[in-house]
This record gives sequence, structure tokens and C-alpha cells, in this order.
Amino acid sequence: MTSTEVRTGEHSYRVLIGPGLLETVGDAIKEKLAPSKCAIVSDTNVAPHFANAIEKILHATGFEPTLITVPAGEQSKTLEQAGAICERMLLAGLDRQSFVIGVGGGMVGDLSGFVAAIFERGVPHLQIPTTLLAMVDSSIGGKTGVNTIAGKNLLGVIHQPSLVIDDIDVLKTLPRRVLRQGFAEIIKHAVIADAKMFRELKNETASDTLSLQTIVQRNVEIKSNIVAKDEFDRTGERALLNFGHTIGHAIERAGNYEQFLHGEAVSLGIIAACAISVKKAGLSIVEVKAIVDLLQRFGLPTKLPDHFPHQRILDALKFDKKFEQGQIRFVVTPKIGSANLSRDITMDDIREVVTKL
Ligand SMILES: NC(=O)c1ccc[n+]([C@@H]2O[C@H](COP(=O)([O-])OP(=O)(O)OC[C@H]3O[C@@H](n4cnc5c(N)ncnc54)[C@H](O)[C@@H]3O)[C@@H](O)[C@H]2O)c1
Ligand SMILES: [Zn+2]
Repeated sequence: MTSTEVRTGEHSYRVLIGPGLLETVGDAIKEKLAPSKCAIVSDTNVAPHFANAIEKILHATGFEPTLITVPAGEQSKTLEQAGAICERMLLAGLDRQSFVIGVGGGMVGDLSGFVAAIFERGVPHLQIPTTLLAMVDSSIGGKTGVNTIAGKNLLGVIHQPSLVIDDIDVLKTLPRRVLRQGFAEIIKHAVIADAKMFRELKNETASDTLSLQTIVQRNVEIKSNIVAKDEFDRTGERALLNFGHTIGHAIERAGNYEQFLHGEAVSLGIIAACAISVKKAGLSIVEVKAIVDLLQRFGLPTKLPDHFPHQRILDALKFDKKFEQGQIRFVVTPKIGSANLSRDITMDDIREVVTKL
């Protein structure tokens, strides 16, 4: 097992990474929090695999857990669902001394974190991510929130977790497509911040030598380093994590959040961001090809399906939080391993690359 510290202004916290960690989850939590009432928030896919067992373990370790299961899928990430969970917690007698554990992918992480942030004005949040995407991305950095009709993640709070437990074994039950989408964020991290990891992923034939544990560990470090520099998304450092996401989010929306998984849309967004980087930041064609090859190697899409309505993507762009006062803050990469924000990208640049996707 490895333990990585994430440093933030609010508090620092540990990310434990290794196989078999769920078996000792009660002891790990006891080191951090006194035995008390807690809510375990999970979804209908994850609960039968892991959350039921975690509930039993916590009970045996002296905690008083209440398991709250929501339907799997992004449609559960709403204010109504957050309110319903809070009501359940109040009924079960949870109070300011209680805490919330999210057991699931990024959806459960964001929803349970939001609940922890607002319940009795804020109680500790523990994350037990069960998707690769949640381990390398959403469980780190404290962004919590819910969706609204107008768009995704529009309501939320930054509420850092108190502990994150990444049990690599939980990834075994993950559908292949859901596992693969996690690599979009990993490749994004490599492109914006870690040329060495990019080379290692590239040289990987069977993704075995670079074990999932090593990959998760490296990516937790990359994300937490960036978050530590700019916890509240103010200096532009954290915004670099949006590489591929401006157009990626628009693609997700254009596909009605059904056609593409988040990571698949991000893969396409990375392709578009690379094309813009060639034009506006001097990224070489050779490096673009290397990025395309790597995304394809991990089974991620690099081209939109035939006859996809491009205009829907352009229409969706206006919902993006990054379009501040109509100005676009766009992340470009001049060279693999580095990225910067550009205010020099126009809607015409975006239109040009989207129509070629
Ligand atoms: N807070 C952040 O910084 C941040 C960053 C990136 C993404 N996100 C959010 O994360 C969400 C996407 O995360 P996700 O891709 O993990 O989606 P998800 O939580 O919806 O999980 C994907 C699917 O896998 C199932 N699942 C999860 N773990 C499983 C397991 N071990 N075995 C079998 N099935 C399992 C889930 O039930 C679901 O059906 C979005 O809501 C996105 O907005 C947040
Ligand atoms: Zn993402």
C-alpha cells in the first residue's frame, strides 16, 4: 500500500492506494475519525459489490453506518437527490459529529461530497472511489456538486475529503468501457504535466508492467500537485486540468449525456484541443500523432461518429463555465508535458476544429 498526502488550505489528507484495502477500511477510518454515526452513499451497481460489505465492516469496527443507495447513473446527481439523502440522514439520527462516505464512481463522489458539505453546514467526507476515473480524477481536489437542467456541475461547493481509499481490486468488476474512459484523464494528465508518463504509457504493450496501482499513484500525485497550487480555481493553474474539456463537455452535452461517456467525450475534446494547439501554440504534428495513437491504444474514440451533428456541439459550448463574459479561456499544449491558458482562441478556431472532428 502507498500513502500520498494531498495538501490544501482547508486541511491535508491522505490517499491510500493498494490492493485489498476494503478489508481493513474500518481501521483506516478509525485512525482518522472517532466511531460515530455515518452515512454510506452508494449506487445500485456498486452497493451489492462493495457498499454492503463496507457497512458490515464499519459496524463491526464500532461505527453506526446507514447505507443509502441511489439509482446508478448521472441522473441521480441532482439537488433533489441530495436533499433526499440529507432527510434520510436526519431520520437516522446523524448530526454534526457524523460523517459521509461515498462508495462509487465520480457520480457518487460528487453527490456524497455535496451532501457532506451542506449537511449541518458541513461534516467530514470520505471517498472510496470505485472507478478508475474517480480514483485518478474526481476523488482528488474537493470539487463536489450536482447537475441542473441548464447544465452539469452548476451547483457545488469545494469540500475537501478527509481520507481517500483507492482499493485497486474494486476495478475488477468495472465494465471495460468504463475502465477505459479513465485513461482519457490519465492521458490528459500526461499531456499537460508529465512527458515521462506519456512515454511510459506509449511504450506499454500489455498495460501490465506499469501496474494500475502505479498509474493511480502517479495520477493522484499529478492532480494533487496542481490542486495544491490553486485549490479554489483562481490562479489559472487548476484550469489546466480542463485540457480537452471545453469541447469535451460540449460533445457530452451534444450526445445528450448518453452517447458518450465523460472520458470518451474528453478523448475527442483532446483531439480538438491538439488541433487548436498546433495552430495557436506551436504543438508539432508528430506529437499530435503520438497523442492520437495513445488514445486509440486505450480504446478511446478519436473521431466523431459519421453524420454526428457538429452544430449541436457548437450550440452546447455556450453553457460552459469557462466562457467568462463571452471570452474563451482555452487550455493549449505547446509540447507534451506542458500546458497553458490562452485567451487568444476564437470561436472561429473552435468551429474549424469541431467541423473536422
Ligand atoms: N469532482 C471532480 O473533480 C470531477 C472530475 C471528473 C468527473 N467528475 C464527475 O464524475 C462523474 C463521472 O464519474 P464516473 O465515470 O466514475 O461515473 P459513475 O460514477 O456514473 O460510474 C460509471 C458506472 O460504473 C458503475 N460502477 C462504478 N464502480 C463500479 C465497479 N467497481 N464495478 C462495477 N460497476 C461500477 C456505476 O454504477 C456507473 O454505472 C460525472 O458526474 C462527472 O461530472 C467529477
Ligand atoms: Zn474530466
